[in-house]
Amino acid sequence: EVTKDKFGIDQVLLRNTRGASVRVSLHGGQVRSWRNERGEELLFTSSKANLKPPNPVRGGIPICFPQFGNRGTLEQHGFARNRIWVIDDNPPPLHPNESNSKTFIDLLLKPYEDDLKIWPHSFEFRLRVALTAEGNLTMISRVRNINCKPFSFSIAYHTYFSISDISEVRIEGLETLDYLDNLCKRERFTEQGDALTFEFEVDRVYLSSSDVVAVFDHEKKRTFIIKKEGLPDVVVWNPWEKKAKALADFGDEEYKQMLCVDGAAIEKPITLKPGEEWKGRLELAVVPSS
Ligand code: BG6
Repeated sequence: EVTKDKFGIDQVLLRNTRGASVRVSLHGGQVRSWRNERGEELLFTSSKANLKPPNPVRGGIPICFPQFGNRGTLEQHGFARNRIWVIDDNPPPLHPNESNSKTFIDLLLKPYEDDLKIWPHSFEFRLRVALTAEGNLTMISRVRNINCKPFSFSIAYHTYFSISDISEVRIEGLETLDYLDNLCKRERFTEQGDALTFEFEVDRVYLSSSDVVAVFDHEKKRTFIIKKEGLPDVVVWNPWEKKAKALADFGDEEYKQMLCVDGAAIEKPITLKPGEEWKGRLELAVVPSS
């Protein structure tokens, strides 16, 4: 089902037979909503988000591409999240191991003329957003080099999880990993052995994590499971009180209700030779927990 938002931009609604749903906007190829079969929203969007293109939208799952953060010459987090993507009406068939995700849409991004002035690399980014029979959200990205010279990029699925309260959540799967701390000039530290809990601003890139990371929410009694392939790094971000106040498109208290945990490839950018394709896969599930 395709509808238009108030700026005339198409949004695609995917729904499975149990009533779970995903809504993705052509603005940024950004997932804006993911609901379970009870209709509960699982992603955070700020009440102050600016939904008008080409602004980045604070919430859902913006895609940071071809640059993460300010690690390069492009605008913060690259341009993909601000561009208008198109629907591919004739997508390639599902791979046999995707047969559980019959509800899907393929979106495409190719560089606009102005993009080539700031990033002179022809690429095609195919994003397949799918909803499984169980209500899991999967995002499969294929980036192809259609140029005659190699290029490198970084990518992150900047996932804003909706949580009960930041003091009630913990992340498992990042223990003992090295991370780069964006709040300390990207200095490298090593995480200790405990699950991660939150008491202050966190802005880190955990390096080479295992392919499963879990976010436990005690109060809501639910756990988000993040499964990833081709995405070695994990970004963890919560702006906390002071930064929240400084962000124009974010409510002062909203940092309590969100936590960004992104599957990403940042530390070692991905290089594609002419004609080569990179594939990355993220699957998000939510399960009850005690
Ligand atoms: C995080 C970055 O991933 O995204 C932070 O590490 C940044 O430094 C945050 O503040 C939000 O970025 P933006 O551009 O969406 O405000």
